[in-house]
Amino acid sequence: MTDANPPVRRLGDWNPEPLRDIADEHGTPTYVIDLDRVEANAARLRAAFAGADIAYAVKANTSRAVLERLAAAGVDAECAAAGEVKRALDAGFPAERVRYTAVNPPARDLNYVLGTDAAADLTVTVGAEDTLNRVAERGFDGRLCVRVNPGVGAGHHEKVSTGAEPKFGVPYERAAAVCEQARGVGNLVGIHAHVGSGVSGDDLAAHRAMVDRMGELAREVGDLSFVAVGGGFGVPYRETESPLDLDAVARSTRDALGDVNARLAIEPGRYFVADAGVLLTTVNTVKPTPETTVVGIDAGMTTLARPALYDAYHAVRSLEPDRPEKKPTRVELAGPVCETADVLGRDRRLPAPTRGDLLAVGNAGAYGYEMASNYNSRPRPAVVAVADGDARLATRRETLADVTRLES
Ligand code: LLP
Repeated sequence: MTDANPPVRRLGDWNPEPLRDIADEHGTPTYVIDLDRVEANAARLRAAFAGADIAYAVKANTSRAVLERLAAAGVDAECAAAGEVKRALDAGFPAERVRYTAVNPPARDLNYVLGTDAAADLTVTVGAEDTLNRVAERGFDGRLCVRVNPGVGAGHHEKVSTGAEPKFGVPYERAAAVCEQARGVGNLVGIHAHVGSGVSGDDLAAHRAMVDRMGELAREVGDLSFVAVGGGFGVPYRETESPLDLDAVARSTRDALGDVNARLAIEPGRYFVADAGVLLTTVNTVKPTPETTVVGIDAGMTTLARPALYDAYHAVRSLEPDRPEKKPTRVELAGPVCETADVLGRDRRLPAPTRGDLLAVGNAGAYGYEMASNYNSRPRPAVVAVADGDARLATRRETLADVTRLES
């Protein structure tokens, strides 16, 4: 690994000056996404998984700027919904490089995806016999992939452990039979499973077990172009955590897959974008209490849902030039949403924050803006894309008028 493309970019590695300029120009809360880092992450995946099909699970960040950059970089797109397929095609992913992984697809989604001109070239992944039938009823006879429930799950939180959850995939015991049925409908090109999200450390054993089962199934089913083993590669959210050894993960994945006459396919989301993004937020209220100092910030669970939803940890740092010299204070970082869950971090040490201070939240490029909402009638933040040192507005901040614009 060369220093030019380190395995992780920590919050402390971001140069504060351009971030302060972005906040001055666009206000806060604002997501910043560094497209060069996204591409560097793609390069690292490609080097580790040489010869494999590499797709980006677009759900992690569907910003047009990100999709365009990754389409140009030659990776494939894995899409979970009609809207994601539309965005991937609009951003320039050729249809033959787009996989639609339908999870209980609403009729509207199927009608859209299978009705597009691109349908003949897409790969449609089905996770239930009933879904296969619904695809067949719509006259689809193109490339098909069968999603399998491998019976083994993992992930950074129980809410993102997928592999053993009955919702996802055809039960393993039925998988070979459903593959045969798929051959009667269209062109069966692959099998697919995904163990869960945020896989690291001990979870790698579960990932390996899943891949092992997929290898077994691939040998039974035979005649496949690819075996997709999902995404889920974790990133270090805590500053003290080590990054994944991607080469070791790739080696262990190939070992577990064993001898199959099909390409390995992976589809990480988070790994491409997490450390390429930060969230900028401003301190609006400081309140000393007997328990802690509550630092009120303008980014809440409507801006970044992960702490409220998964108790996820995101590093936070002050971007004020004189702060490093100040004494750290124990603080709770609280958002502006009237709900107890709206706390971005508890028991954090920050250099005595004062009103107006600019803070940066790390690893915000994945599932950040993507999961933002309008709860509390709060407008969604802006997104600024950075490339080659230049910053440009990628998504404008919503206004109060935007929040009500769909009402009749
Ligand atoms: N493939 C499939 C079929 C998936 O369901 C997912 C994620 C991925 C790939 C990409 O996983 P990744 O490499 O990004 O871990 N909102 C949660 C994560 C939910 C992921 C759902 N599926 C979070 O913020 O942690």
